[in-house]
Amino acid sequence: MKKASIHIDKHFITGQVDERIYGSFIEHLGRAVYEGIYQPDSPFADKQGLRQDVIDLVKKLNVPVVRYPGGNFVSGYHWEDGVGPKSERPEKIDLAWNVIETNQFGLNEFMDWAKKANTTPMMAVNLGTRGAEDAKNLVEYCNLKGGSYYSDLRRKHGYEQPHNIRLWCLGNEMDGPWQMGHKTAAEYGRIAAEAGRLMKMVDPDIELVACGSAALTMPTFGEWEYTILDECYDQVDYLSLHQYYNNRANDTADFLANTVAMDQFISSVVSICDAVKAKKRKKKSINLSFDEWNVWYHSSEQDKKLERWCKAPHQLEDIYNFEDALLVAGMMITLLRHADRVKVACLAQLVNVIAPIMTSDTGAWKQTIYYPFEMISNYGRGTVLHTLTDCPVYESSHGDAPYLDAVCTMDNDENLTFFLVNKDLNDSMELTVDLRQFEGYQVKEHVVLTNPDVKEVNTEEHPDTVTPVRLPVGNCSDAASSITGRNSAVVEGGILKATLCDKSFHMIRLGK
Ligand code: AHR
Repeated sequence: MKKASIHIDKHFITGQVDERIYGSFIEHLGRAVYEGIYQPDSPFADKQGLRQDVIDLVKKLNVPVVRYPGGNFVSGYHWEDGVGPKSERPEKIDLAWNVIETNQFGLNEFMDWAKKANTTPMMAVNLGTRGAEDAKNLVEYCNLKGGSYYSDLRRKHGYEQPHNIRLWCLGNEMDGPWQMGHKTAAEYGRIAAEAGRLMKMVDPDIELVACGSAALTMPTFGEWEYTILDECYDQVDYLSLHQYYNNRANDTADFLANTVAMDQFISSVVSICDAVKAKKRKKKSINLSFDEWNVWYHSSEQDKKLERWCKAPHQLEDIYNFEDALLVAGMMITLLRHADRVKVACLAQLVNVIAPIMTSDTGAWKQTIYYPFEMISNYGRGTVLHTLTDCPVYESSHGDAPYLDAVCTMDNDENLTFFLVNKDLNDSMELTVDLRQFEGYQVKEHVVLTNPDVKEVNTEEHPDTVTPVRLPVGNCSDAASSITGRNSAVVEGGILKATLCDKSFHMIRLGK
């Protein structure tokens, strides 16, 4: 059995958790909107056609912010097509995903959905085929009370009160050659600065996210970030990062080691933001918005067979397995470990499209990745403590990878929560944490997500194959222990002791 130890100190704080790191994403893509959150002919739909079963699951995930309407889609989108009487809305071709967009769901419907799902919008503007003027008009439509053309148009559409959207994305992945209206860094930097300036002239209280690279592997990575920030530093508040991982090589250990790559990606982008800050002698820092992250590859071959110009096809419908859930947990731990600079993050996406929630005619069901997201989003709040991990490492294509991914958060009542992934595929790990600063603390809850088969999935027919198990605290002989063959963590002599079985994710909560 491997041994690991974690060292924390209540005064060594990485940063406050910005709850917006538990964001997600709804794009007009595949069945995310249509048949996902909106399906008027479904028995699960409410009066507005919004699927109540999906809203219920989204609420449990506790997602404070949802990015909308894209993604690649936004780079050809005319937001005006999706507002006003539905009978007058045009059907248009969407060149991002080669489908027909009916525009039966748009901005105002999204705002209604967001309220019902207890979330807030992160709105993206089209800086691909459009520019500063349309972005400015959209802010006016959404955020001004009335008395101007676009704010009065919103009122005419039945929305008397402004939507007051605070967080805005200046386009999407503008460095990507696949993007409609793709730009060089210098071109994008200028348009982001100009659009941002006009948008903030309409509403100075909004926050803006500039597009970073579409992935760490983009050939222009680094140069892109530096050049665009050099142009739009004063106008923007955040720089975006996007990253999807895959296990096409079918090497689980290497796949799980992607948290090392993600960690380095975040540190590199922080360095670039700070280099531009230093060069410009600025006081303001640019923080990070990791507004697309997930595993994405299972559906790629299937999607190549799709016919063009259909409506809401089954597209990007990855079915996630247990190893994906482990990596999602590891990625969330990595985001938390950078709580000082990562202030927004969006799991891409939320429903049907590379998503934790799937829908069918018989209801909505949870993929494997739903569970780590739910646990970390609900309990990883408060403050992140600097979490020093001492454990063996293994070689990976990303460099040495620790067998243990770990982070500790402390909530307002000074309860501690540890999130832990044992990446060892064969061996358990004996973990100890010296709790000398936390006298009288006991384990309150220990939940584990594990499975003997890393390729195990949940399906519509069998949605509960991979689900977390709550270990009975302080009592090794009852039902759940004998099911899993595992005991919960304990505190003995001021030391937290836990056995982390091979390939497992754990949430251990402690308090007085
Ligand atoms: O999330 C799916 C797509 O991935 C988004 O539309 C795009 O921004 C990214 O390339």
